[in-house]
Amino acid sequence: MVEDAGREAAIENLAAVIGECRKCPLWKDTHHAVPGEGNPRADLMFIGEAPGKQEDLTGKPFVGRAGKLLEGLLSGIDLTRDDVFIANIVKHRPPGNRDPREEEIRACTPYLEEQIRIIRPKVIVMLGRHSSRYILSFLPVEFNRITEIQGTVYPGLLFDHPVRLIPTLHPAAALYNPRYREALEEDFGIIGRELAAAGDFTT
Ligand code: URA
Repeated sequence: MVEDAGREAAIENLAAVIGECRKCPLWKDTHHAVPGEGNPRADLMFIGEAPGKQEDLTGKPFVGRAGKLLEGLLSGIDLTRDDVFIANIVKHRPPGNRDPREEEIRACTPYLEEQIRIIRPKVIVMLGRHSSRYILSFLPVEFNRITEIQGTVYPGLLFDHPVRLIPTLHPAAALYNPRYREALEEDFGIIGRELAAAGDFTT
């Protein structure tokens, strides 16, 4: 286990390794890897799908339009990006923002797992079906559509650490759909409550 004082360094070292990653071909058409960023001691971690165009240009997760929506949802529960850690299932942008492929997810997720081991968040929110499918496979929980399970709180152990797993919609899906936006706002209410209770269910 990485001790408290070592978390920043461990996250930075891992980001440097991700920056040089050639385990799958996705890096070839990109400007930057997007390892993830935020508070390495965060109680709350978000996992999206993959970097988009703005993220590829800046090397930062969720800085495009979906990111602005995410920031608004965070501020609705009195949090900022600096309070949380934001990562993705894959760390390089798939061409044309296509869905990440199975083999790309397989190559990349050891990095995400290492980030979770280092940060040890108490609540993990999966944004959209790709990250929900991946993370919930550890419990295991299966689903067809994200709308079947969104907003459900799944308590479990992830890499020997107690955590609450909450799948929700991807913010990009809510950009043009007010009903999805309302559903996301409701789920953020649940996230805020779980976070407030977090001290009661883990050490
Ligand atoms: N969508 C994602 O899933 N991740 C990002 O970083 C940006 C958009």
